[in-house]
Amino acid sequence: MATSNQSGRAAARAGANFALVKYWGKADARLNVPAVGSISITLDALFTETEVQLEPTLRSDELVLDGKRRDEDIEKISACVDLLRRKAGVDTRVRVTSRNNFPTAAGLASSASGYAALVRAAETAFGLTLTPRERSIVARQGSGSAARSIFGGFVEMRAGSAPDGSDSFAEPLLESKEWPLEVAIAVTAKGEKEIGSRSGMTRSASSSPYYAAWVAGQPPDLAAARAAIRARDFAALAEVAEHNCLKMHAAAFAALPPLVYWNGATMECLHAVRRLRAAGVAVFFTIDAGPQLKAVCAPGALTIVERTLRAVPGVLELLTSALGPGAELR
Ligand code: DP6
Repeated sequence: MATSNQSGRAAARAGANFALVKYWGKADARLNVPAVGSISITLDALFTETEVQLEPTLRSDELVLDGKRRDEDIEKISACVDLLRRKAGVDTRVRVTSRNNFPTAAGLASSASGYAALVRAAETAFGLTLTPRERSIVARQGSGSAARSIFGGFVEMRAGSAPDGSDSFAEPLLESKEWPLEVAIAVTAKGEKEIGSRSGMTRSASSSPYYAAWVAGQPPDLAAARAAIRARDFAALAEVAEHNCLKMHAAAFAALPPLVYWNGATMECLHAVRRLRAAGVAVFFTIDAGPQLKAVCAPGALTIVERTLRAVPGVLELLTSALGPGAELR
């Protein structure tokens, strides 16, 4: 329901997230309903801050991201804001000012934190009060992974089966303080990635001979990861997360033309993580649609993991983070 928000302005912060059981493929491209569920962790130290200001004099929405006008992104932003305009029963355009504190679109999930922060701020600017589930559904239509950044800690996205996407939303599984894992992100390339996840998924679904097997394998992986998280069983989570990540990339490698998101340093980092684990360090890797490697560490393992990954040739920068909260107003 709309309540009054005199200033027509609101600001929010949302953390980036990455998946331990991946979202890769869509059931409905128009409603952006995923073909598979996913499980992620929301980060504390990598986030987007977004301010939304209603501008009755504007004829179209405006976006300024990291200090630059981004007219190329405005169509997707407007489509997402339209969902909230419709709920509020207004037609007012908005000025969106957004800042990422980490490299935009380099496989570091800026669309996840970006759309989660946008939805949280725009909702309030329009004087709406949505439930977290409604927020997640709106954020999903901006970017599938954004549905998860509405929540903090460990989060599960349900693919759902309703034709209108009304049961396709994320839900919290476990709060960060209940299992305070930490992450190290090895940045091995900077700049925007060549093939975004959206077109990568489409290409995998239409041309990879392994895509059907990828989709079919997801329910058991989700069940295994859910059970491991509930039991705080790091070894079990490591096994399913690495297997799931490699299956996603196997499906992508086998697409035509092939999708190879890794570089040499990504592979070196993967081996470094596996060597550490063989030596008794509680760490596992995951990789998304880009060349950065994310290492998930049990409490106490971060220092050695960080030192080891920093020394891998080709690692340009090392980011670390604890798990963090969901999207919040500022
Ligand atoms: C590899 O959420 O960016 O990071 O819904 O098309 O915006 P759209 O895709 P997006 O895809 C994320 C893919 C992934 C895996 C994951 O985060 O689960």
